[in-house]
Amino acid sequence: MAAGDPASAPAPEPLIEVRDLVKHFPLTQGVLFKRQVGAVKAVDGISFDLHRGETLGIVGESGCGKSTVARMLVGLERPTEGQILYRGEDITRLSGRALKSVRRNIQMVFQDPYTSLNPRMTVGDIIGEPYQIHPEVAPRSDRRRKVQELLEVVGLNPEFINRYPHQFSGGQRQRIGIARGLALRPEIIVADEPVSALDVSVQAQVVNLLARLQSDFDLSYVFIAHDLSVVRHISDRVAVMYLGRIAEIGTGEEIYDHPTHPYTQALLSAVPVPDPEAREHRERILLTGDVPSPAHPPSGCRFRTRCWKAQELCARVEPPLEVPPEFRKSTGPARHPSACHFAEERRVVAGG
Ligand SMILES: Nc1ncnc2c1ncn2[C@@H]1O[C@H](COP(=O)(O)OP(=O)(O)OP(=O)(O)O)[C@@H](O)[C@H]1O
Ligand SMILES: [Mg+2]
Repeated sequence: MAAGDPASAPAPEPLIEVRDLVKHFPLTQGVLFKRQVGAVKAVDGISFDLHRGETLGIVGESGCGKSTVARMLVGLERPTEGQILYRGEDITRLSGRALKSVRRNIQMVFQDPYTSLNPRMTVGDIIGEPYQIHPEVAPRSDRRRKVQELLEVVGLNPEFINRYPHQFSGGQRQRIGIARGLALRPEIIVADEPVSALDVSVQAQVVNLLARLQSDFDLSYVFIAHDLSVVRHISDRVAVMYLGRIAEIGTGEEIYDHPTHPYTQALLSAVPVPDPEAREHRERILLTGDVPSPAHPPSGCRFRTRCWKAQELCARVEPPLEVPPEFRKSTGPARHPSACHFAEERRVVAGG
């Protein structure tokens, strides 16, 4: 899982390359004669790579476009613009059999284990459902045994196969969702807030399970959360999203210990710190105001309406997501892409 030393090995081809991805949902008015009056810019031009065996965390506040990115990655939503290259091929243009075969390799685990499992289906039918769409993966005679194996793999008793979702706790249901995600032996799992609906005490268990499955099955993850603390231990790299764009992206060390974007710094300053002494000394940055509507994002830098550093330039020019000029010569951890005109290192969490 750990990122290799970039100086010692050539970077391998990314498994997924997301390029300038856009998703605008039309806003319409009228019932009989629907007119388009605008667009919700849910995702508005984002790019990132996912490498084999890596976990990319995506974090940001509610409504910033995380689930829309996830749904485009697994083919549940078609992008308005941009590309998703999987092993070099643009999967947003595929259809029919080619699309089906790609989808087999990119599976999703959903947020809410209470609503994402059909209450009228047995656990065996839920986990085995993907085999109905892809019968080539498991012949009918093999399916029961495969499902029992999957139950075991996620830490559930294989004898539970005939039970119904309501007979399980939240954490156990999420294990069922994960088993279903694994059924087709995918290469990539897109987990959209897989632990947000669970008790804090259970969250770590499910995150640990995902980490173990990653090494056992050589999986790559896109792991979505709204809280930076949840993805910290599982992510090799983290992308921080704000209003449909990436504000800052880097390795765990770069993002958590050397953030340069004010939005990341504010999010980090809100992460609970268990150690009382560290808590005493850390800085708190309070964000004022709500997230603006993605139908009308602010001009220039989208974060400027809530940013304590904003100046006239920020309203006029959108800062590109690149290594800020003042850090280009450095070799230290502040040298990573950050979309801010006034990027500067500021450590906000002591220890951790
Ligand atoms: N099908 C849709 N039609 C119209 N607008 C949509 C649709 N899906 C999402 N949106 C809007 O797009 C924006 C981004 O939504 P999205 O669900 O991707 O955010 P999110 O970051 O996952 O939020 P959350 O943390 O609440 O899950 C929101 O303003 C949402 O209302
Ligand atoms: Mg979401």
